[in-house]
Amino acid sequence: MESSFEIRTRTVFDQYQRDQENDPHIFDRLVSLIEEEYFGLAAGSFRGLDVLDAGCGSNANASYAFLEKGAHSVVSLELGNDWMDCARKRLSRFGPRSQLVAGSVLDLPFDEKRFDFVHCAGVLPHTSDPKTGFEELARVTRPGGSFFLTIMGTANGVIYRCINHLRELYQNDEQFRSAIDNLNGSTTREAIDWLLNAKENEEEEYMPGENAFFRSLFDDDLFVTIRDRFQAPTYHEFSFTEEQIRDWFVECGFDNIRRISRYTRNFHNLRRFLAPMYRHYDHPLARFWFGDGCIQMIGNKPST
Ligand SMILES: C[S@@+](CC[C@H](N)C(=O)[O-])C[C@H]1O[C@@H](n2cnc3c(N)ncnc32)[C@H](O)[C@@H]1O
Repeated sequence: MESSFEIRTRTVFDQYQRDQENDPHIFDRLVSLIEEEYFGLAAGSFRGLDVLDAGCGSNANASYAFLEKGAHSVVSLELGNDWMDCARKRLSRFGPRSQLVAGSVLDLPFDEKRFDFVHCAGVLPHTSDPKTGFEELARVTRPGGSFFLTIMGTANGVIYRCINHLRELYQNDEQFRSAIDNLNGSTTREAIDWLLNAKENEEEEYMPGENAFFRSLFDDDLFVTIRDRFQAPTYHEFSFTEEQIRDWFVECGFDNIRRISRYTRNFHNLRRFLAPMYRHYDHPLARFWFGDGCIQMIGNKPST
């Protein structure tokens, strides 16, 4: 039985993830995130694997990618049953290779050593007990298999310090909350139209095309992300360190543990100028803005 906190989490995420599913650009961008090279694997490595996509989200974009890449089976797990219509719409073309399961990462309804590849992106901070979730995911990883995890690092960069303050404001200030709740492509287009008209009444463009460029920085993809950062309930603020997650992998008997990163392609908004910092998370500029950033780590369970 889900707690009221989990139901709230699921409800908030369900809204974003359906928005993402309805926008072909966003869905395709999310699917394109899963590529072998990112995980340090040879092309074709997912072929024939049994994969768990834990906390897959209503649109199960990673599950879709693993299936497209030839996984033998993909189990897509989320809290409750209410999300399944959305994921099923996408995944039904894969037939019995795709299975949708309601459950929690804190108590996985699977035998141990069940999966060759366990994928869990952005889920554990939303649970009441991330360490238990980690141990559960490690338990179901097969010897010889891999477990991949993303988790937000400590909020010790400018952007995440701001986000944490603004999350508090979102909780306590009705006006700010309503502005965020109404933030989307169309409200923003109205605001930008007003801004650029007012500007044009006063002076001509300084550089040719600057208004069009300014507009290109904002799209629905960006606003789903911004709403996520303020609205999504988390038990744990951004407080995980790379060392701590590495220790968890070691405690659970994993080896070849490595932090990985990627160049996140295909942003059509201002995040295309942030993407180099996602890739080079250790660069001083990236550390300044994002601190520990999004910790993306993978480990192998030794064959016995
Ligand atoms: C940031 S979203 C990530 C979704 C997806 N993994 C992705 O990368 O697009 C976090 C997801 O974790 C799910 N979640 C939260 N607590 C969970 C739990 N205890 N068990 C399984 N999923 C959970 C939420 O419902 C939400 O869809």
